[in-house]
Amino acid sequence: MRVVSIVGARPQFVKVAPISWITKDVCEHLILHTGQHYDHALSDAFFADLDIPKPVETFNVGSGSHAEQTAGILVKTEAALIRLKPDIVLIYGDTNSTLAGSLAASKLGIKTGHIEAGLRSFIRSMPEEINRVVSDHLSDILFAPTNTAVNNLKREGLGDKTLSVGDIFIESFNYMVNKIKKTDYLVRKPYLFTTIHRAENTDMKERLEKIVSKLASSKIPIHIYAHPRLIKQAKLFNVNLNQGSIIVHEPVTYLETIKSVLEATGVVTDSGGLQKEAYLSKTPCLTIREETEWLETLNGDWNKLDPNLDLISTSWWESKGDHDPFKIFGDGSTSKKILNSILSI
Ligand code: UD1
Repeated sequence: MRVVSIVGARPQFVKVAPISWITKDVCEHLILHTGQHYDHALSDAFFADLDIPKPVETFNVGSGSHAEQTAGILVKTEAALIRLKPDIVLIYGDTNSTLAGSLAASKLGIKTGHIEAGLRSFIRSMPEEINRVVSDHLSDILFAPTNTAVNNLKREGLGDKTLSVGDIFIESFNYMVNKIKKTDYLVRKPYLFTTIHRAENTDMKERLEKIVSKLASSKIPIHIYAHPRLIKQAKLFNVNLNQGSIIVHEPVTYLETIKSVLEATGVVTDSGGLQKEAYLSKTPCLTIREETEWLETLNGDWNKLDPNLDLISTSWWESKGDHDPFKIFGDGSTSKKILNSILSI
């Protein structure tokens, strides 16, 4: 059996890793890299940290408008799939690479499995929401990570092709934690690990200015690990990121990210992945959004939706007690469940 995974952006490398480990010696697994993310820190560094085998092809599609990027990936993916003739294609998450991958595979009549299916923000102005909805409806098998995702898919009439498998993400998280020495994060350090990259937070001047000024006024130092989109937009709008409590860094590797999340006082982010990494690390997280697809992380006051960062300089960060973060994301056997499912097609 030949399985082809289509990935292109940072969070997808995290999700493909456990599939690459579990398929080894069982079936042929080939990775197509669309090239949506191309900087070393956003791409190659993830392959290295997670011991992911090299892609069989990289398209170097790069950046562009949604239409340009999606169309570029679509054309190259179709040609590659015709050459490779997979038995099944796996797509991951909600990026433009996911959308183009699902379109190319389904129109060629190739069975398609969507890993991390069923997430919804119910906000159609988010490009990721459009990518999720289309990819779920086109795919043949929907691997849902949470009960919320399963219910979303049932509501859209997709229950028959849905499998509840837990979150593949925790396998990569655990893999990283095992690579880090416990002594490296025994003592919490006084800083907030911060990332901002979503269009709704970076692409309007007033919105970006407001977020930056709130961060600058934080009592706890803010370490921003700046995605290239943030740097680009801040320059465009003449917003100075280096002000007040803010210290700007380049994006760090996955290993460094997990280590930092484990040792930081808190996380401030608009990323879906970081909300979960914080939750699993028992690190409190303020999410700079009005909604989250990971509703389960809102139980117990560990993750708080705070679109205007009203809580940043309050005592919210203090003494959160304990919780069992693994209860809601499955038992770490997601990749095994996915493998069993694809072997039976
Ligand atoms: C994409 C995904 C988003 C995901 C995020 C993870 C879509 C619509 N969005 O957003 O769901 O959460 O990845 O990081 O697919 N750039 C570089 N170097 C790179 C990549 C991008 O400089 O290696 C810059 C370019 O200026 C580009 C901008 O970042 O225009 C945005 O990149 P893009 O891939 O379009 O979207 P992300 O914001 O990364």
